[in-house]
Amino acid sequence: MARKVECLYCGQKFTRTQYSEHLEMEHTDEYVKLVERIKSALQIGDDIKYIATNNNITEAFVKKIEKQLMTFIKEDTTSYSPKNSNIKLLWEPENFKLETTTVWSFPDRGNWATHSGKYRGNWSPFIPRNIILRYSGEGETVLDQFVGSGTTLIETKLLKRKGIGVDINPEAVKLTKSNTSFEKKDSGEVEVHVGDARNLGFIKDESIDLKWKIFVIIAVIILLSAITFIILLHLYNNRNEGREVAMQAKEY
Ligand SMILES: C[S@@+](CC[C@H](N)C(=O)[O-])C[C@H]1O[C@@H](n2cnc3c(N)ncnc32)[C@H](O)[C@@H]1O
Repeated sequence: MARKVECLYCGQKFTRTQYSEHLEMEHTDEYVKLVERIKSALQIGDDIKYIATNNNITEAFVKKIEKQLMTFIKEDTTSYSPKNSNIKLLWEPENFKLETTTVWSFPDRGNWATHSGKYRGNWSPFIPRNIILRYSGEGETVLDQFVGSGTTLIETKLLKRKGIGVDINPEAVKLTKSNTSFEKKDSGEVEVHVGDARNLGFIKDESIDLKWKIFVIIAVIILLSAITFIILLHLYNNRNEGREVAMQAKEY
């Protein structure tokens, strides 16, 4: 006879098959959290059997979520539901405002679309969203040559840019492909390669827009800083010269 599991929230006993159904019917919030947990575990490459055992559910249920992850139904322009699910996930952060000062602050790390914080060192999607919106236009090409789990490319796709991602780690490239495989109307194209950021010869010269703009902005900032420095140095020297003349005059 199948071993029964005890519901963590009401203490009733169920088979593993019944348990996920019970959560969905009786403890919807916990069910939503369970699905999110499974999605995150799948995205970081955890084994299906391990996820099932860890959550007291069947492998078939984990496989169902895996399938949903790959096949999003287009619903409207601001949200989508994974197939066969009443869970509604957002395409965009709510009440997003572009950062305008040097101090950026976000309400949370951001978990819209397929974003999750599981890949080691991945950044909050609010960061690439701000940079992409400020420094590139729709249809332009954005390069992330350390693409990791694809945070930047999820954003380029949502924001209708062409995203090119490169990572030296083939597992990261797989993860990026999976994270950017969602279907969304009017979204940008995505291209991901296993490769070394020090050797990007396969990318056509002058084809990246965002990188180019950032270089120009950095160059302008350096130039302005250098001019300011020279002016200040000049003023400082003049002041010292003035002091010396005054001292000499005093001595006479
Ligand atoms: C901090 S992670 C980037 C995370 C990414 N921003 C995200 O949000 O998922 C840095 C990535 O750079 C990759 N990397 C390190 N050296 C590299 C190189 N020489 N060329 C390409 N990728 C490299 C690593 O494999 C890792 O996935």
